[in-house]
Amino acid sequence: MHVAITGASSGIGEALAREYFSRRAQVTLVARRKDLLEKLAKETDTKTHLVQADLSEPSQVTSWVDDAERALGPIDVLINNAGVQIVRAFLDTPFEDAKRLMQIDLLAPLELSQFVGKKMAARRSGTLVDVASMAAIAPTPGMSFYNAAKGGLAGASEALRAELKDHGVHVVTVYPGPIKTPMETAGRAVYGESFATKVFAPAGEASVLARLVADAVEQKEPRVIYPFMNALGRHFPAMTRVLLDAFTPKVKPG
Ligand SMILES: NC(=O)c1ccc[n+]([C@@H]2O[C@H](COP(=O)([O-])OP(=O)(O)OC[C@H]3O[C@@H](n4cnc5c(N)ncnc54)[C@H](OP(=O)(O)O)[C@@H]3O)[C@@H](O)[C@H]2O)c1
Repeated sequence: MHVAITGASSGIGEALAREYFSRRAQVTLVARRKDLLEKLAKETDTKTHLVQADLSEPSQVTSWVDDAERALGPIDVLINNAGVQIVRAFLDTPFEDAKRLMQIDLLAPLELSQFVGKKMAARRSGTLVDVASMAAIAPTPGMSFYNAAKGGLAGASEALRAELKDHGVHVVTVYPGPIKTPMETAGRAVYGESFATKVFAPAGEASVLARLVADAVEQKEPRVIYPFMNALGRHFPAMTRVLLDAFTPKVKPG
């Protein structure tokens, strides 16, 4: 099995790589920091293919796929995981930064899914995994551009499942709540700790999420929501909106 993971140099992507190493998959690891990918690849004796690509550059989004497939065979599972977050007041965010986020978090995954999805459809087999965010279900004040990108990705991902079913391609949409990674640490620092974030948004482990994602791919489940209490946000959206608006700490200025 060939699994391609974007954003494999850190956090959730790194944990996904380890999970698939342990399942004896052959893995393509994609990120900008190649030194970290090399270090990670040394942890396994299964075949890996390393790709240094900057997904903020439209020309680099799909340019690596054919080489990866020559190295490890057709991609069976594409995991659109690479992402960036901006936690900053909407009015203060330079729009160029917002456009870059949209390219990495929304446009790159959609383009990759279309490019790889066509190949999967031709073979009538494969799985596309989109790492969205709880921000898609419960948009959080202080990260409007991130909410927009993840909401867009989740929207496309959820509807694509039915569309691609007839082509033999499965789609898994992933909604992580807070997960202990460098991105989460940086985000929390901008909000500052509060009683509400501790109680309503406890952070989960990247290794647990990675296992749930790999299980969902294997069992053809539609979506993963973790930490589990975040599922309440999906089932009670109106109440979640009220709580988020009332209790989300203000972002620190700057
Ligand atoms: N942690 C959370 O609480 C949380 C919650 C919900 C959703 N998520 C989502 O989960 C995914 C992984 O996040 P994480 O928490 O693991 O963050 P992370 O530790 O900061 O890792 C982000 C990954 O994305 C890659 N990346 C960033 N910009 C890139 C670019 N321009 N080109 C290629 N790769 C790029 C990074 O690699 P390089 O820097 O080496 O390029 C890194 O491997 C993201 O989509 C994030 O939005 C995370």
